[in-house]
Amino acid sequence: MHLDDAPIPGRFRDLFSSEGIVELYPPQNLLVESGAMEGRNTVLSTPTASGKTFAAELLMAGKLSEGKKIVYVVPLKALAYEKYLDFKKYEKLGFKVRIEIGDLDSSRYRNSLDFDVLVSTAEKCDSILRSRPEWFENTGMLVLDEVHLIASDRGPVYEILAAKFRKLFSEMQILALSATIGNPEELSGWLDAELVSSEWRPVELTEKVAVGADKNRKLVELVRDSLVDGGQTLVFVSSRRSAESVAENLGLALGLECGVELEGLGEEILNALTSPTEQCRRLSVCARNGVVFHHAGITGRQRTLIEDAFREGLLKVIAATPTLAAGVNLPSRTVIVRDLTRYGSSGSKYIPVLEYKQQVGRAGRPKYDRVGLAYSIARNESEADFVFEKYVKGEIESIYSVLGVEPVLRCHVLASIASSFTRTGDSLTEFFQSTFFGFQYGIEGFSSLLEKVLDKLEFWGFIRTGMDGLLLPTDLGRRISELYIDPQTAFNYINLMQKAEKEDRFPSLGLLEMLCDSAELPLLYVKKGDEQTLWEEAFQNPGQLLRELDGFELDYGFLERYRTAKLLELWVSEASEEFIYKRFNIPPGMLYRKTSVAEWLAYSASEIARILELKKSAGEMSKMELRLRNGVREELVPLIKIKGIGRIRARRLYNMGYKKPSDLREADIKELASVVGRETARKIKTDA
Ligand SMILES: Nc1ncnc2c1ncn2[C@@H]1O[C@H](COP(=O)(O)OP(=O)(O)OP(=O)(O)O)[C@@H](O)[C@H]1O
Ligand SMILES: [Mg+2]
Repeated sequence: MHLDDAPIPGRFRDLFSSEGIVELYPPQNLLVESGAMEGRNTVLSTPTASGKTFAAELLMAGKLSEGKKIVYVVPLKALAYEKYLDFKKYEKLGFKVRIEIGDLDSSRYRNSLDFDVLVSTAEKCDSILRSRPEWFENTGMLVLDEVHLIASDRGPVYEILAAKFRKLFSEMQILALSATIGNPEELSGWLDAELVSSEWRPVELTEKVAVGADKNRKLVELVRDSLVDGGQTLVFVSSRRSAESVAENLGLALGLECGVELEGLGEEILNALTSPTEQCRRLSVCARNGVVFHHAGITGRQRTLIEDAFREGLLKVIAATPTLAAGVNLPSRTVIVRDLTRYGSSGSKYIPVLEYKQQVGRAGRPKYDRVGLAYSIARNESEADFVFEKYVKGEIESIYSVLGVEPVLRCHVLASIASSFTRTGDSLTEFFQSTFFGFQYGIEGFSSLLEKVLDKLEFWGFIRTGMDGLLLPTDLGRRISELYIDPQTAFNYINLMQKAEKEDRFPSLGLLEMLCDSAELPLLYVKKGDEQTLWEEAFQNPGQLLRELDGFELDYGFLERYRTAKLLELWVSEASEEFIYKRFNIPPGMLYRKTSVAEWLAYSASEIARILELKKSAGEMSKMELRLRNGVREELVPLIKIKGIGRIRARRLYNMGYKKPSDLREADIKELASVVGRETARKIKTDA
């Protein structure tokens, strides 16, 4: 169908046409000819790169012109950002486009959220829905992108979100998108949706299995061939370490020419942090060779630099972990999947076909290339046959709900009681019946687990049963739900904070170890050989901890918490970042992620303490929140609260004798300016 004939309002047609769209793709035709146009819920199951986003936009256009809002949910922040930039074009037509991916504490949502199109991660959207459902009034459509992720550990929030929206706003249309679901019929059944599916892909994707006894040598050969005529290549590997070594090896082996632009990129990557780390240096050298690595350990700034340089064609090759595989558009004519196995807790295992298809799906994107080529590598012919059958020809797995386990349930049960979404046991059961879990498994066998969760929440003091049998949240329970933390985490914190208050002891390491006692904060691993020493160290200094250790049994969970707490403690003792990376053998991105989660947990702990009137704990955790955010010792807390003063400046000012805001108020402006510059010095004096 030509764009001119598409059943959408004229001004949208002009907008799309100015973006270069002429014809609808066949799956888009199918969608506009389906019941979706009349508002039916729809599952769009079509290949990677087949234009599912624009298909959604064809429906969005209709809703927007009726004055309805759109909520577009994605799994990852990076993808949210790509969609947000794409949808900003609607501002030209006077629509408000917003992105929400940050802070999850819904009590901080004071002002209203004014949007026509909202792009959000599932967690953030759920968090808003918990306390401000009215913000979603007049929403005409909910888009669930990459919906196959329902089967991943972050999946339950997707199905909860869909179930809640359906219950609260029965008029809202749901559109679920995915290239990789084995059982789209089942998903459609759950959503009471029409299934629109197609095998059509705008750019033909050829999938091959290359054979080479030495995989890395074969990889070099394949990459070299792929670069002919300006082609660009993405190599997927299973671990961060592999991404780095593959990038370095390819850089050396390919010997690409390094021009001034790559020099510049290398320089920018190196200076992404104030003091570059070993990893920054390696990444910078890689960039100069035209081949970089991309994984969760690089900083956000480096990530943007790399993705932009690859889009511009400056970088030719990226070796990435699969985090880069979801939904993004990159100009990679060729994708090479080097690792079809991944190392997990139960040894090395083949990755699901679904993940393979997502990875190869990054090749041949219509915006950039006219053909797409994907390779995996087998060591010999018989392995090649196996790989071809399993992955190239293989069927994509069905997805199954993972909602029905206690840790997941307790969060969502509390949330739904806390936001008065369900008030009785029956309505709670009915609600879970309406999830994908309920649809797939039924909830007959599920009631005892639900009972157990309710009992626990009541025992912990987060919910209570009213006189007429109604399920009611306590103030504490409501706050925990708003904070978006696991009730178990809250319970762990309450126990230790009560102990601290009673003993009137608040050792930093002990508070940090407490923060680590949560599913939210991923802990550092402890090597076998280090266990005993670490245990002895902890055991010999009981005063530094809040909890008492049982000396007879080596507690592995504790050791991981202890080691992670020690890392956080170095950070809040002003150790240099470089020192921390080396000492714990971690990349910069990981330090940042840990400190920012810990900061959120410290804030949550202080809020919980406040409600329970544990006054000292509340104050201590509040201070710890600031220290974690800024990486400073306690004595700098008063200074760090002032705008324009960070970790380094606060330390210098403190050492010069300015210890509190009032000292700064009276300070000599010239002396201040020598540390922070004139402009800031003036501002600081007023703020202080
Ligand atoms: N009708 C069209 N004409 C020209 N280009 C189009 C059309 N529809 C979509 N595209 C382009 O196709 C590319 C791929 O689209 P999109 O990212 O929506 O794919 P997708 O189906 O969501 O893939 P994935 O499953 O990998 O997320 C985009 O660059 C988009 O601009
Ligand atoms: Mg997509």
